[in-house]
Amino acid sequence: MRSLRIEGASGRSTIMVGEPLERLDSHCDATRKVIITDKSVRALYGALFPPWEVIEIGIGERSKTLATVNSIYEAFLRHKVDRSSFVVAVGGGLVCDVAGYAASTYLRGLRFGFVPTTLLAQVDASVGGKNGVNFKGYKNLVGTFTQPQFVLCDFALLKTLPEPELKNGFAEVIKTAVVGDAQLFSFLEATWKGALSLEPDVIERIIYDCLALKCRIVSLDEKEKGERRKLNFGHTVGHALEKVNHLRHGEAVSLGMVAAARLSARRGLLSRNDAGRIEALLSKFELPVRTHMDANLVRDALRRDKKRENEEIHFVLLDGIGNARVMPIGIHELDEALNDLR
Ligand SMILES: NC(=O)c1ccc[n+]([C@@H]2O[C@H](COP(=O)([O-])OP(=O)(O)OC[C@H]3O[C@@H](n4cnc5c(N)ncnc54)[C@H](O)[C@@H]3O)[C@@H](O)[C@H]2O)c1
Ligand SMILES: [Zn+2]
Repeated sequence: MRSLRIEGASGRSTIMVGEPLERLDSHCDATRKVIITDKSVRALYGALFPPWEVIEIGIGERSKTLATVNSIYEAFLRHKVDRSSFVVAVGGGLVCDVAGYAASTYLRGLRFGFVPTTLLAQVDASVGGKNGVNFKGYKNLVGTFTQPQFVLCDFALLKTLPEPELKNGFAEVIKTAVVGDAQLFSFLEATWKGALSLEPDVIERIIYDCLALKCRIVSLDEKEKGERRKLNFGHTVGHALEKVNHLRHGEAVSLGMVAAARLSARRGLLSRNDAGRIEALLSKFELPVRTHMDANLVRDALRRDKKRENEEIHFVLLDGIGNARVMPIGIHELDEALNDLR
């Protein structure tokens, strides 16, 4: 097991990379301990849970609501959870986001930790202290920044992940490499087959490197005022496509990354060759690089983006692979980028 640290204003977090779920109990010092999970994860891994109370929440984005948070508060009351208790979310990014929000607001904040069980949650969602729920159709509109005390990352849990979920995670892995780690990018180019088949050495290096970069960025800019915005690479166009074309998150982000890479190349920041390498790597991971879309609908969705400031968007462009920079760009410039995806 290797560990990483985040020192944030909203708390300190230890990331245990390669620690088995079976050792969870030894990391929580409390008399009352509670697990929050979902039905699928409990069916697969419930036998490995320590003997604590378990709260189950629903599956899918439709469960990422204040109503679910309400049901968790009710369960906390039933189980007599108090300020000395410890809460651990075991599940994908959704379980972590909802449980983290419930724990950080109940009694003005309980101690909590995460055991992420999807690749996306291991490399991205569980780390960094953002939690929350959707509200009135807006993703993650309500939430807090509060660091989990720990994140326990057990690679063995990934073996049962359905392929589409694995690919969602690899889209974020490629994003991380592209914005901040050229060596990881080359490693992915060389080992994509081993990565897709979850070869232990390959997957360990990939997850560790992604986490190391995320920890570094979050420690610099916990509240996403500058540096952390780089991790939204591919997500502006991606979120709009996800909504309009009903794509999976990873597929939409893949297309968003292609659009952003091509826009970077147009501006002379990224070589055409490197833009091509990014597309080629996404294709190796069976992520889409072209799509049919109604450009007007996507444009409308972009205008509703909550990160929009007037007619400009904070957009992440590339200054070469492994080097991102955030620049305000006019919303009209995105039209060209959208055309590139057809
Ligand atoms: N807080 C952040 O910084 C951050 C960052 C990125 C994404 N997110 C959030 O994360 C969520 C998406 O997370 P996700 O992609 O993990 O999806 P998810 O949590 O919805 O899980 C996807 C599915 O996989 C199942 N599953 C989980 N672990 C499994 C396993 N080991 N084996 C088999 N099935 C398993 C779940 O039951 C679920 O059906 C979104 O709500 C997104 O907003 C948050
Ligand atoms: Zn994402």
